[in-house]
Amino acid sequence: MIFVTGGAGFIGANFILDWIAATGEPVVNLDSLTYAGNLENLAALKSDPRHIFIRGDIGDSARVDKLLAEHKPRAVINFAAESHVDRSIHGPEDFIQTNVLGTFRLLESVRGYWGVLPEAEKSAFRFLHVSTDEVYGSLSADDPPFAETKAFEPNSPYSASKAASDHLVRAWHHTYGLPVLTTNCSNNYGPCQFPEKLIPLIIANALAGKPLPIYGDGMNVRDWLYVSDHCAAIREVLARGRPGETYNIGGWNEMPNLEIVHTLCTLLDELAPNSLIPRRSSLITYVKDRPGHDRRYAIDARKIERELGWRPAETFETGIRKTVAWYLGNQPWVEHVTSGAYREWVDQNYGERA
Ligand code: NAD
Ligand code: DAU
Repeated sequence: MIFVTGGAGFIGANFILDWIAATGEPVVNLDSLTYAGNLENLAALKSDPRHIFIRGDIGDSARVDKLLAEHKPRAVINFAAESHVDRSIHGPEDFIQTNVLGTFRLLESVRGYWGVLPEAEKSAFRFLHVSTDEVYGSLSADDPPFAETKAFEPNSPYSASKAASDHLVRAWHHTYGLPVLTTNCSNNYGPCQFPEKLIPLIIANALAGKPLPIYGDGMNVRDWLYVSDHCAAIREVLARGRPGETYNIGGWNEMPNLEIVHTLCTLLDELAPNSLIPRRSSLITYVKDRPGHDRRYAIDARKIERELGWRPAETFETGIRKTVAWYLGNQPWVEHVTSGAYREWVDQNYGERA
């Protein structure tokens, strides 16, 4: 079996659903269920014995040591993290706690477990660390996309904490020989993404007739990838990636935020027409920019294609249509996650941008 951390979040849950469908191999899922973790994402596996959920923290070493000894996974895949840049600006400490200290403790637990495995299992074992393109910093319009050799230049508390975790993972390979793999991926979108991130936030606000907040001039560029393509890439890296290597994963799909928001408005006008707001784009509202806002990210995904044959299967047109359809068909999911603490976050983040 494999051991996944952070599997109740957006990408982790999509990964577990796709993994079990594609391989049938059981998964132990350790997740502390922060505001971003939601077992509703895994409702389809509720009575499936191939998914074992454990509520717990990656930094709880005694617990993780015990779980690894008990379940004997052949691989650990680390998705657990604080993942939202805006939250890292308001409160960086949780990011240091989980992304830096938590990853360090997890690496130590895994090293202890791996170190005493029989030789054949030891050499087949993998620790795969899921990271982000944000560690590379910000690009100008004419810079080449990020290759794996690009120096790290993280600019936000979030990206700095992820860069630190990537460095720890690298060092545990170099110093202790732990067979690690690191993936650095661009912006994901798709089902079950918490509506504090751009795409699900715009869908939720547009359906509710609320303002669609655009930070700054709306011309910041991201490279968007449909989540199931990211999950497929991780499966490939886990199966055939070379220990100690990093693999960049991206959609070959750079778009400015404003274009994303206009695309969503057009799709919603078509799929969920509202006579009171015939053109959702009329809700677009420019607000104060994110401090330190990175201008452009773009991924050079040639290494993973060359070495492992992976390329995204979805185009942005097909992926975004599926995503909008998923949110329209899962409004109870959205209502559950946008109560209580979510409203406090919206007041905090957008109140001061007005
Ligand atoms: P998310 O915020 O939706 O989910 C994170 C999950 O981790 C949640 O279920 C949360 O409960 C859990 N978690 C947090 N702290 C924990 C801890 N200390 N112990 C155990 N569980 C904990 O994040 P996501 O968007 O699914 O991202 C998953 C990973 O992928 C992160 O490492 C992120 O940096 C990386 N990533 C995300 C994107 C993206 O676009 N969302 C792109 C590239 C890389
Ligand atoms: O690049 C990968 C990263 O993508 C991941 O590592 C992060 O975990 C993930 O959250 C994401 O980070 P971003 O900061 O790029 O995502 P977010 O959805 O928060 O913002 C996308 C862009 O949209 C960014 O330029 C800021 C802008 N934005 C965002 C929000 C929430 C707005 O203009 N308005 C908004 O209300």
